[in-house]
Amino acid sequence: MATLVLYATKSGATEQCARIISEELSDCTICNIDINKPDITAFDNIILGAGVRDGKIYKPIRDFIKKNQNDLLNKSMGYYICNEKPKKTEEIIEANFPEELKKAAVCIESFGGYKAYAAPKEGTDQLKGIFVDRIKTFSEKFK
Ligand SMILES: Cc1cc2nc3c(=O)[nH]c(=O)nc-3n(C[C@H](O)[C@H](O)[C@H](O)COP(=O)(O)O)c2cc1C
Repeated sequence: MATLVLYATKSGATEQCARIISEELSDCTICNIDINKPDITAFDNIILGAGVRDGKIYKPIRDFIKKNQNDLLNKSMGYYICNEKPKKTEEIIEANFPEELKKAAVCIESFGGYKAYAAPKEGTDQLKGIFVDRIKTFSEKFK
């Protein structure tokens, strides 16, 4: 099953998560939506990942969802967010994903994230604040 992980990041956490998913799945393409907007028809599974600022997932992924909602309903879909405040996760998911897509999703998860304005410096642990176990459990569902 071909999987596309399409993500938007500002400080890098969401990209780290995409990388880990791609290591877990055998036929997986990862793509930064700011660099490339791939044709989704070639993929069975689509995983959309986005960082969160001020309660909102990043706009390129918001726009992508709006534009492709009907096509996404015909795919096996996963969604993840990167955010730092676990208590806000449920509210963020509730507010940012259309009801129909939430109902049809294989899974929706927060993988944690970096503290605001404190992304790890180069050469330090890039997974600080990220729950790798959750990424692995999430990925299992697309094998
Ligand atoms: C300006 C700003 C606003 C943020 N707002 C939220 C928020 O509303 N809720 C939350 O849980 N995390 C918030 N965060 C934390 C980010 O979601 C976290 O840093 C995450 O790693 C961002 O994803 P990215 O590294 O892929 O860009 C905020 C961070 C910044 C810098």
